[in-house]
Amino acid sequence: MEDNMDPNYVGNEEDEIYKENILDHFKNPRNFGEIVEAEIEHSELNSVCGDMIKLFVKLGDDKVVDVKFKGNGCAISMASTSMLTQKLKGKTLEEIKKITKEDIFEMLGVKLGVVRQKCGLLCLNILNKGVKEMEKNGKNN
Ligand code: FES
Repeated sequence: MEDNMDPNYVGNEEDEIYKENILDHFKNPRNFGEIVEAEIEHSELNSVCGDMIKLFVKLGDDKVVDVKFKGNGCAISMASTSMLTQKLKGKTLEEIKKITKEDIFEMLGVKLGVVRQKCGLLCLNILNKGVKEMEKNGKNN
């Protein structure tokens, strides 16, 4: 097993501030919970470990008015989802569609190995698929 499969691995010592921030989001996830009748509601699992996270996004006039998530994952996946929920509030649908992998890595602030990148990008994967699903099925499905 690689070192970076340690669930608490979040980078090297130079990343201390970011690491503390990640652990804070992991221990106290922001916007944890669920939304009834959210326009975007999608879950995905990380195929590497089987951890699953579900994201709920409530839109009002094409702007994100509320976001919640639930599920279980490692420090990186839970923290990145928690941070992403904060980032999404108030954004338009077009703006959230423009969020990139690089935005997520920048938000986390630590250098991630290939395995951990999957953890960090799980939230973006869920968001992108959820948006596509909503657009395919209509917003009030
Ligand atoms: Fe499962 Fe990171 S180890 S999401």
